[in-house]
Amino acid sequence: WTASSLSVVVLGASGDLAKKKIFPALFSLYYEGLLPENFQVFGYARSKMTDAEFRDMITSTLTCRVNARERCAEAQERFLKRCFYQAGPYDEPGGFQALSTRLGEQEAVKPRANRMFFLSIPPNVFLSATGNAADHARSKSGWTRVIVEKPFGRDSASSAELGRGLAQHLAEDEIYRIDHYLGKELIENLTVLRFSNRVFEPLWSRQYIRNVQIIFSENFGTEGRGGYFDQYGIIRDVIQNHLLQIVALFAMEQPVSLDAEDIRNEKVKVLRSMKVVAPEDVVMGQYRARGKLPGYLDDKTVPEGSLTPTFAAIAMFINNHRWDGVPFLFKAGKALHKRYAEIRVQFRHVPGNLYRDKQGADPDAACNELVIRIQPKEAIYLKINNKVPGLGLRLEQTRLDLQYQQQYQVELPDAYERLLLDVVNGDKRLFIRYDELQAAWDLYTPVLHELERSQAAPELYPYGSRGPLGAHYLAARHNVRWGDLA
Ligand code: BG6
Repeated sequence: WTASSLSVVVLGASGDLAKKKIFPALFSLYYEGLLPENFQVFGYARSKMTDAEFRDMITSTLTCRVNARERCAEAQERFLKRCFYQAGPYDEPGGFQALSTRLGEQEAVKPRANRMFFLSIPPNVFLSATGNAADHARSKSGWTRVIVEKPFGRDSASSAELGRGLAQHLAEDEIYRIDHYLGKELIENLTVLRFSNRVFEPLWSRQYIRNVQIIFSENFGTEGRGGYFDQYGIIRDVIQNHLLQIVALFAMEQPVSLDAEDIRNEKVKVLRSMKVVAPEDVVMGQYRARGKLPGYLDDKTVPEGSLTPTFAAIAMFINNHRWDGVPFLFKAGKALHKRYAEIRVQFRHVPGNLYRDKQGADPDAACNELVIRIQPKEAIYLKINNKVPGLGLRLEQTRLDLQYQQQYQVELPDAYERLLLDVVNGDKRLFIRYDELQAAWDLYTPVLHELERSQAAPELYPYGSRGPLGAHYLAARHNVRWGDLA
């Protein structure tokens, strides 16, 4: 590190993602002393701005996780001095050449100057910007790494085209495809939970697990972001990527080692063992107005009469020895009653009926369930049957409960912090390999095309509700009850 410097260039520097996530994450890493001593941040975007204006723009977003106000303010000042801005177009080399010259001025002090680009820009300029950055602003003395974030196309074909386009300018080991869900604490913990605990691993199969539910719920709608959202819909926005990635980690076989390639080999394998989603496996919903809360179609950025789903429930299956017949049910929606994301693992009934008459009328209520709450209030708990204390013999379900806040009393790092640090360190474990991305698209492309071709209408659900009834019917068809509604 002492022989190298690091430049981080954020393309699309005035966008929402950059302001809300990227600059704050870079600042946190700086604050924690995790960036090389010689580093600089460059914002790049079309609009004209001076360095001072750029610093003003990002100041309000920089916060310190630890409670040390004075130190924080001081660190912010030092950080801002290393922040610069370059205006320029995405689709012409000129701006990138100018950027490269400016980067060079700051880098001159070190023999090895590494450059990292974060692309937070719209899909229509994605390829040209990457090409220009790679061809005109790549590092001459150190590594160049480019972080790209979805949308990676809209289906298998467009994703492959994008992949080919990127490959003309960058080697695969220079490309870091982010799925920010992989940077979340509880997702990274998934493999630890599974592979380092003797009590879980033996149960992790169709023999003991009845179904797995991956639930994503947001209590806000598109709120002005409809222009982007409407072209993708909830399946492409969160299910085909974030939720499917969770299943891949959940269901893969034990990797040979913790190396990025070993882990990703297993993820690709399990994705390729999954049944391609069919229209009958999908229920779509769209939120409508309720009282003062606007419906999806009331969002001015949404095209009139749009059929884009803001909710979907999907049943997936893995056709392999371990998981044959176990439903993996996804449920994801916007404008629902609460914001949370969780994994629910429902176990089979205990054979025999020793306690059946002590357990109440509903045998399902006595099944074990492991819940991994990804956010908020991160937690892992296991529902077990327990004797109600006292002289009688009555059973009830209770929890073995690990609540992160109580147990660890630390604020968890944001996903982008972890992921950006991994890029600095060249660690690809949490990034999506090209074949993995294609395998994920192959599972969803036929159904997405079919739903669009048939103009299938989503079921309407009121803003703030628990989503359309269809989700229950879908679950019931597979003999499942949604655990979050119990
Ligand atoms: C993004 C989606 O990838 O993830 C958004 O595009 C969604 O629509 C967001 O709101 C959710 O991320 P998080 O980390 O807030 O759960």
